[in-house]
Amino acid sequence: MTPEVLVYPDRSALIEAALALIVERILTAINERQSCTIALSGGSTPQPLYAALAGADLPWQQIQIFWGDERYVPATDPDSNYGMTKRVWLDLVPIPAANIHPMPTGLAQPQLAAEDYDRQIVAHFGSEAGSIPVFDIILLGMGDDGHTASLFPHTAALSVRDRLVTLGDKDGQPRLTLTFPIINQARSVIFLISGASKQTALAEIFSPTGDSTAYPSRSVAPQGELLWLLDAAAGEKLKSEGD
Ligand code: 6PG
Repeated sequence: MTPEVLVYPDRSALIEAALALIVERILTAINERQSCTIALSGGSTPQPLYAALAGADLPWQQIQIFWGDERYVPATDPDSNYGMTKRVWLDLVPIPAANIHPMPTGLAQPQLAAEDYDRQIVAHFGSEAGSIPVFDIILLGMGDDGHTASLFPHTAALSVRDRLVTLGDKDGQPRLTLTFPIINQARSVIFLISGASKQTALAEIFSPTGDSTAYPSRSVAPQGELLWLLDAAAGEKLKSEGD
């Protein structure tokens, strides 16, 4: 499907719109398939969105929460994406603990953790061998360098095609990340991007001559819907080029 770029005047309008769009897609998934399986992004941008989701009236029993990536730290670490989401959202709603699937960061070797999460995803979806599970929603952020999830520029993770989860590498720090094959299988992929520091990467990503290895978000091309939700500060260069 053709990507849709929606630009909002400021960060709070971006979060408000993202909340409405995500709630709508959660309810649609539940209406159609009796459940919604969503993979969440980390970082700072989605935090107010997650806080707003804590106030949403949703059928939490029918919602399954996974993560698109994770820093290889304990849940109690301030850098933990799971820890942040739990604190601002999941601890505040009646979602069954069994519906929350954090990436395992307690194993001695991150590679074993990646393999374990791969198995957890396959088990959850009951996927046939060789088929790629279909998330209803994958929420993504984008770094100033154009990375998404923990798929960083010029890293081996960008070319992994035979696994659902792999190791990311942020300047030598181990990460766990979904791979492009499973991201691009999703029914709906939603980027949530805020701030002027994202302008350059976005311009590269939307340029016909952009380099996907240098700007990995460029490789997100789902079989389903792709929404880019930006605030004006992030979308500035796109707007001027598009005018
Ligand atoms: C992470 C994320 C990562 C994030 C971007 C943007 O674990 O950090 O999943 O991909 O979305 O780095 O981060 P900000 O929202 O903090 O700019």
